[in-house]
Amino acid sequence: MYGLVNRALQQLVCTNCGEETWNAVRARAGVQEEVFMRMDSYPDEVTHRLVAAASEVLHRPAEELLKEFGHYWMKYTMVEGYGALLSDLGPTLHSALAALDGMHARVSLLYPALKPPMFRVTDMTPEGMSLHYHSERVGFAPMILGLVEGLGERYGVQLEIRHAAVKGGEHDHDRFDIRLLPAVGAA
Ligand code: HEM
Repeated sequence: MYGLVNRALQQLVCTNCGEETWNAVRARAGVQEEVFMRMDSYPDEVTHRLVAAASEVLHRPAEELLKEFGHYWMKYTMVEGYGALLSDLGPTLHSALAALDGMHARVSLLYPALKPPMFRVTDMTPEGMSLHYHSERVGFAPMILGLVEGLGERYGVQLEIRHAAVKGGEHDHDRFDIRLLPAVGAA
Protein backbone atom coordinates (compact mmCIF):
# COMPACT_ATOMS: atom_id res chain seq x y z
CA MET A 1 0.00 0.00 0.00
CA TYR A 2 1.28 3.46 -0.78
CA GLY A 3 2.81 5.36 2.13
CA LEU A 4 0.02 7.92 1.82
CA VAL A 5 -2.29 5.41 3.51
CA ASN A 6 0.07 4.59 6.37
CA ARG A 7 0.77 8.30 6.89
CA ALA A 8 -2.96 8.92 7.24
CA LEU A 9 -3.22 6.14 9.80
CA GLN A 10 -0.29 7.62 11.73
CA GLN A 11 -1.86 11.06 11.67
CA LEU A 12 -5.24 9.75 12.80
CA VAL A 13 -3.73 8.01 15.84
CA CYS A 14 -1.43 10.94 16.65
CA THR A 15 -4.26 13.48 16.40
CA ASN A 16 -6.69 11.47 18.54
CA CYS A 17 -4.35 9.81 21.02
CA GLY A 18 -0.95 11.51 20.82
CA GLU A 19 2.46 10.60 19.51
CA GLU A 20 3.35 8.34 22.43
CA THR A 21 0.39 6.13 21.64
CA TRP A 22 1.46 5.98 18.00
CA ASN A 23 4.96 4.95 19.08
CA ALA A 24 3.42 2.17 21.17
CA VAL A 25 1.39 1.05 18.13
CA ARG A 26 4.46 1.13 15.90
CA ALA A 27 6.53 -0.84 18.42
CA ARG A 28 3.82 -3.46 18.86
CA ALA A 29 3.51 -3.78 15.09
CA GLY A 30 7.28 -4.18 14.78
CA VAL A 31 7.39 -1.32 12.26
CA GLN A 32 10.71 0.53 12.10
CA GLU A 33 9.67 3.49 9.93
CA GLU A 34 9.22 6.71 11.88
CA VAL A 35 8.00 8.40 8.73
CA PHE A 36 6.23 6.92 5.70
CA MET A 37 6.99 8.43 2.30
CA ARG A 38 3.66 9.10 0.56
CA MET A 39 4.91 8.04 -2.87
CA ASP A 40 6.68 4.85 -1.71
CA SER A 41 4.96 1.48 -1.82
CA TYR A 42 5.04 -0.58 1.39
CA PRO A 43 3.95 -4.21 1.77
CA ASP A 44 0.25 -4.46 2.67
CA GLU A 45 1.45 -6.45 5.67
CA VAL A 46 2.73 -3.20 7.23
CA THR A 47 -0.74 -1.63 7.12
CA HIS A 48 -2.31 -4.84 8.46
CA ARG A 49 0.14 -5.00 11.35
CA LEU A 50 -0.41 -1.32 12.21
CA VAL A 51 -4.19 -1.74 12.28
CA ALA A 52 -3.94 -4.90 14.41
CA ALA A 53 -1.52 -3.22 16.83
CA ALA A 54 -3.70 -0.09 17.07
CA SER A 55 -6.64 -2.33 17.90
CA GLU A 56 -4.68 -3.93 20.74
CA VAL A 57 -3.18 -0.73 22.12
CA LEU A 58 -6.45 1.22 21.96
CA HIS A 59 -8.62 -1.73 23.03
CA ARG A 60 -10.94 -1.16 20.08
CA PRO A 61 -12.02 -3.66 17.42
CA ALA A 62 -10.04 -3.37 14.18
CA GLU A 63 -13.30 -3.07 12.21
CA GLU A 64 -14.27 0.01 14.23
CA LEU A 65 -10.86 1.61 13.65
CA LEU A 66 -11.03 0.90 9.92
CA LYS A 67 -14.45 2.50 9.71
CA GLU A 68 -13.12 5.58 11.51
CA PHE A 69 -10.13 5.54 9.18
CA GLY A 70 -12.52 5.61 6.21
CA HIS A 71 -14.14 8.77 7.58
CA TYR A 72 -10.74 10.29 8.23
CA TRP A 73 -9.50 9.43 4.72
CA MET A 74 -12.12 11.73 3.25
CA LYS A 75 -10.76 14.67 5.26
CA TYR A 76 -7.13 13.67 4.89
CA THR A 77 -7.21 13.46 1.10
CA MET A 78 -8.76 16.96 0.99
CA VAL A 79 -6.01 18.40 3.18
CA GLU A 80 -3.34 16.57 1.17
CA GLY A 81 -4.52 18.30 -2.00
CA TYR A 82 -6.72 15.67 -3.66
CA GLY A 83 -9.97 17.58 -3.15
CA ALA A 84 -10.37 18.22 -6.89
CA LEU A 85 -10.66 14.47 -7.48
CA LEU A 86 -13.51 14.32 -5.00
CA SER A 87 -15.16 17.42 -6.45
CA ASP A 88 -15.24 15.77 -9.88
CA LEU A 89 -17.37 12.86 -8.68
CA GLY A 90 -20.59 14.38 -9.98
CA PRO A 91 -23.65 15.99 -8.44
CA THR A 92 -25.05 13.17 -6.28
CA LEU A 93 -23.93 10.34 -4.03
CA HIS A 94 -25.20 7.95 -6.72
CA SER A 95 -22.97 9.52 -9.36
CA ALA A 96 -20.03 9.64 -6.94
CA LEU A 97 -20.16 5.93 -6.15
CA ALA A 98 -20.47 5.11 -9.84
CA ALA A 99 -17.40 7.25 -10.57
CA LEU A 100 -15.02 5.74 -7.98
CA ASP A 101 -13.09 3.59 -10.46
CA GLY A 102 -12.51 6.56 -12.74
CA MET A 103 -11.29 8.55 -9.75
CA HIS A 104 -8.79 5.86 -8.73
CA ALA A 105 -7.69 5.65 -12.38
CA ARG A 106 -6.76 9.33 -12.10
CA VAL A 107 -5.00 8.65 -8.79
CA SER A 108 -2.93 5.99 -10.57
CA LEU A 109 -1.55 8.68 -12.90
CA LEU A 110 0.13 10.10 -9.79
CA TYR A 111 0.76 6.73 -8.12
CA PRO A 112 1.68 4.37 -10.97
CA ALA A 113 1.96 1.21 -8.81
CA LEU A 114 -1.56 1.73 -7.44
CA LYS A 115 -3.60 -1.43 -7.00
CA PRO A 116 -6.98 0.20 -6.57
CA PRO A 117 -10.16 -1.53 -5.50
CA MET A 118 -12.99 -1.78 -8.04
CA PHE A 119 -16.59 -0.84 -7.42
CA ARG A 120 -19.91 -1.53 -9.12
CA VAL A 121 -23.22 0.06 -8.25
CA THR A 122 -26.47 -1.88 -8.70
CA ASP A 123 -30.10 -1.64 -7.62
CA MET A 124 -30.11 2.14 -7.87
CA THR A 125 -33.32 3.74 -6.72
CA PRO A 126 -33.91 7.26 -5.37
CA GLU A 127 -33.84 5.66 -1.89
CA GLY A 128 -30.58 3.80 -2.15
CA MET A 129 -28.32 1.37 -3.95
CA SER A 130 -25.93 -1.53 -3.53
CA LEU A 131 -22.19 -1.01 -3.76
CA HIS A 132 -20.09 -3.99 -4.80
CA TYR A 133 -16.47 -3.86 -3.66
CA HIS A 134 -13.78 -5.93 -5.37
CA SER A 135 -10.21 -5.92 -4.10
CA GLU A 136 -7.27 -8.24 -4.30
CA ARG A 137 -6.66 -7.34 -0.66
CA VAL A 138 -8.43 -8.75 2.34
CA GLY A 139 -9.39 -7.02 5.55
CA PHE A 140 -10.07 -3.46 4.41
CA ALA A 141 -13.81 -3.79 3.77
CA PRO A 142 -14.88 -2.04 7.03
CA MET A 143 -13.17 1.09 5.67
CA ILE A 144 -15.96 1.35 3.11
CA LEU A 145 -18.51 2.02 5.87
CA GLY A 146 -16.69 5.19 6.91
CA LEU A 147 -15.73 6.17 3.37
CA VAL A 148 -19.31 6.05 2.14
CA GLU A 149 -20.68 7.85 5.22
CA GLY A 150 -17.98 10.49 4.69
CA LEU A 151 -18.92 10.82 1.02
CA GLY A 152 -22.58 11.12 2.07
CA GLU A 153 -21.66 14.03 4.36
CA ARG A 154 -20.05 15.81 1.39
CA TYR A 155 -23.38 15.54 -0.42
CA GLY A 156 -25.41 16.51 2.65
CA VAL A 157 -27.00 13.07 2.68
CA GLN A 158 -27.69 10.97 5.76
CA LEU A 159 -27.54 7.28 5.10
CA GLU A 160 -27.49 3.82 6.56
CA ILE A 161 -24.94 1.39 5.20
CA ARG A 162 -24.91 -2.33 5.86
CA HIS A 163 -22.20 -4.85 5.03
CA ALA A 164 -24.69 -7.16 3.38
CA ALA A 165 -22.35 -9.76 1.85
CA VAL A 166 -18.89 -10.59 3.15
CA LYS A 167 -16.28 -11.92 0.73
CA GLY A 168 -15.53 -15.60 1.26
CA GLY A 169 -17.42 -18.83 0.88
CA GLU A 170 -20.27 -18.27 -1.57
CA HIS A 171 -19.40 -14.56 -2.11
CA ASP A 172 -16.49 -13.59 -4.35
CA HIS A 173 -16.72 -9.96 -3.26
CA ASP A 174 -18.21 -7.71 -0.58
CA ARG A 175 -21.55 -5.97 -1.02
CA PHE A 176 -22.82 -2.96 0.88
CA ASP A 177 -26.48 -1.95 0.90
CA ILE A 178 -27.02 1.76 1.25
CA ARG A 179 -30.28 3.41 2.24
CA LEU A 180 -30.68 7.16 2.08
CA LEU A 181 -32.49 8.63 5.07
CA PRO A 182 -35.06 11.38 4.55
CA ALA A 183 -33.66 14.85 5.22
CA VAL A 184 -34.52 16.14 8.70
CA GLY A 185 -37.58 18.36 8.42
CA ALA A 186 -38.70 16.84 5.12
CA ALA A 187 -42.36 15.97 4.81
C1 HEM B 1 -9.25 11.88 -3.51
C2 HEM B 1 -9.62 10.81 -2.85
C3 HEM B 1 -8.89 9.49 -2.88
C4 HEM B 1 -7.56 9.21 -3.11
C5 HEM B 1 -6.44 10.20 -3.42
C6 HEM B 1 -7.40 7.77 -2.99
C7 HEM B 1 -6.22 7.09 -3.12
C8 HEM B 1 -5.98 5.81 -2.71
C9 HEM B 1 -4.67 5.19 -2.55
C10 HEM B 1 -3.34 5.87 -2.84
C11 HEM B 1 -4.88 3.93 -2.10
C12 HEM B 1 -3.80 2.88 -1.80
C13 HEM B 1 -3.82 1.79 -2.86
C14 HEM B 1 -2.46 1.21 -3.16
O1 HEM B 1 -1.47 1.66 -2.57
O2 HEM B 1 -2.36 0.29 -4.01
C15 HEM B 1 -6.31 3.76 -1.95
C16 HEM B 1 -6.90 2.61 -1.49
C17 HEM B 1 -8.26 2.47 -1.28
N1 HEM B 1 -9.24 3.34 -1.68
FE1 HEM B 1 -8.96 5.20 -2.41
N2 HEM B 1 -8.61 7.20 -2.70
C18 HEM B 1 -9.55 8.21 -2.61
C19 HEM B 1 -10.89 8.08 -2.33
C20 HEM B 1 -11.53 6.89 -2.11
C21 HEM B 1 -12.95 6.74 -1.92
C22 HEM B 1 -13.98 7.90 -1.97
C23 HEM B 1 -13.19 5.40 -1.73
C24 HEM B 1 -14.49 4.65 -1.50
C25 HEM B 1 -15.66 5.17 -1.26
C26 HEM B 1 -11.90 4.72 -1.75
C27 HEM B 1 -11.70 3.39 -1.51
C28 HEM B 1 -10.45 2.81 -1.29
C29 HEM B 1 -10.23 1.53 -0.63
C30 HEM B 1 -11.30 0.62 -0.05
C31 HEM B 1 -8.84 1.32 -0.61
C32 HEM B 1 -8.09 0.15 0.07
C33 HEM B 1 -7.39 -0.74 -0.89
C34 HEM B 1 -8.20 -1.92 -1.38
O3 HEM B 1 -9.38 -2.04 -1.01
O4 HEM B 1 -7.65 -2.73 -2.15
N3 HEM B 1 -10.93 5.65 -2.01
N4 HEM B 1 -6.96 4.91 -2.37
